[in-house]
Amino acid sequence: MCGIFAYTGPDATAGAIVLEGLKSLEYRGYDSWGVAIRTADGTISVIKHTGKIGSAKLPHIVSHTALGHTRWATHGGVTQANAHPHLSSDGKIVLVHNGIVENYQTLKRELQELGYAFRSETDSEVIAHLIAETRKSVSDPVACVRTAFERLIGMNGVVCYFADDDTFVAVKNGSPLVFARAGKARLLASDPAALAPHSREVLFLEDGDCIAISPDGDTYYGADGMKKQMVFQLLDFDPEDAQLNGFPHFMLKEIHEQPELIRRITEAQEEAVKKAAVMIRESYGTYLVGCGTASYAALAGTYLFSKIAGRHVNFSIASEFAYLTQFIRERSLVVPLSQSGETIDVIDGVRDAKMRKARIMTITNVQGSSLFRMADYALLLGAGPEKAVCSTKAFTAKVALLLLIAHELAGNRERGQETLKQAAAAVADVLDRKDELRALAERMHHRDHLFVLGRGVSYPVALESALKIKEVSYIHAEGFAAGELKHGVIALIEQGTPVLIYNPDDETYHDTLSAAHEVKARGAYVIGVSSRNSDVYDAYFHIDDCADATIIPNVVVAQFLGYYLAVLKGFDPDKPRNLAKSVTVK
Ligand code: AGP
Repeated sequence: MCGIFAYTGPDATAGAIVLEGLKSLEYRGYDSWGVAIRTADGTISVIKHTGKIGSAKLPHIVSHTALGHTRWATHGGVTQANAHPHLSSDGKIVLVHNGIVENYQTLKRELQELGYAFRSETDSEVIAHLIAETRKSVSDPVACVRTAFERLIGMNGVVCYFADDDTFVAVKNGSPLVFARAGKARLLASDPAALAPHSREVLFLEDGDCIAISPDGDTYYGADGMKKQMVFQLLDFDPEDAQLNGFPHFMLKEIHEQPELIRRITEAQEEAVKKAAVMIRESYGTYLVGCGTASYAALAGTYLFSKIAGRHVNFSIASEFAYLTQFIRERSLVVPLSQSGETIDVIDGVRDAKMRKARIMTITNVQGSSLFRMADYALLLGAGPEKAVCSTKAFTAKVALLLLIAHELAGNRERGQETLKQAAAAVADVLDRKDELRALAERMHHRDHLFVLGRGVSYPVALESALKIKEVSYIHAEGFAAGELKHGVIALIEQGTPVLIYNPDDETYHDTLSAAHEVKARGAYVIGVSSRNSDVYDAYFHIDDCADATIIPNVVVAQFLGYYLAVLKGFDPDKPRNLAKSVTVK
């Protein structure tokens, strides 16, 4: 969940280049940060701070080589000592790390018995000393890093710099690492968006791969230790897409991108949608899996496939899927949904399913990501970089794609395209009336609890809406199936408790309206989101009806509420506390 960035090249501002790279990676973790710079005399200068990078500047050091890290704390608290980069005792090796070394205590004790002293509580520092100890018997930098890396248990990515050899060695299994050339410059990063300003041609390291970058050039090795041909991929987005472009926050920018994105998906994904429908039709059971927001898109998918195509599609939260794979067999189709394509709980489940010979159809937003490469067939959302920690446009893009595939299965793709065009217009209408939602947030921002209710395909939207609100505003928001109200939830309703109710004009309408009356009778402040107003609502937000795609404009209501609640409470909606964009550790 951390961000890694490394540079070596003709620019003499390597430190500043790395710091800019870290700023674009901060959404991966922002507890602390640090940069190591090779100085003119060949020594390494390390600057480390707790907290976010913000407008921090580095001291001006003329350097052509630097590496840096922005941290999401796993082992060891948020302290300067625990911040990366970590140095070997002699200061000649410096390292940044993403992942978890599950056997770090054993290795640490072994190194302490050899006399190594530790400055931090981290598992990452253990790797730095392990490489230094290994170097005593294995002098070649690549062989040394590989030998040490093979002793680590867990999913890790490491970039190590040897000052004496002026050489970087990068190696990974599980945690993402991407390489790029930009003229004579060489760069490494945790994700392609950070490299895009330097080059749109990138190489995604596979598990076990290793790259060495030295004054003699760069060399790429496969997991078998043999030299490997570099195959670069052209990124499917423009570097400009990863900038704020005048918005105060990425979350607000990405909310606004949705109408155009939904129209693009409606038009551009025809071949992908056809192939996906065939794979589902031919499968012996289809399983949609994901975490967090992606899991709610997956759950919404089961309703869409049932209602539109009469097709039974299974769902599992990805972190639970590994306990449910006993029934997976050769013709099973597992569909991981993942914005980042790097969520470890999804990767683990997919690995297990592949061992059971299932076919994998990944739906992701990041080309070349782990889940993209693990798939037999991968569909790209084409949503452009999603930089806010909380997912907005990637959710609506997943739902739009699943809806199209369902209509393709039903043999009426045009109907799907029509409802999505209506949904894009309905989202644009929500954008135009966002001030109504800001006013609603002002009336609620002092509340500690908030509930979101929905039936049918609005139930996963209720779950997603609650997540949007809770993860950026820290209000305790919970989503429930409206039918579950009387099975316990209603005990929580007090005078003035805000209850957001999705009530599209579909088969759930009247039962959901009954739920509104039941919570109203107990003092709730009822917010109705529907194409039809009702006197039971204390507040009403109109949504144009667009059949099964109505859930798309509906969720945008919660995206705005979450955003405005966070801003009203003085929080940074892009970087909520304790969270990171891509959960690459368990
Ligand atoms: C979304 O708002 C959350 N930040 C989180 O639940 C996220 O959806 C989840 O971690 C899955 O991420 P992925 O889509 O990159 O796999």
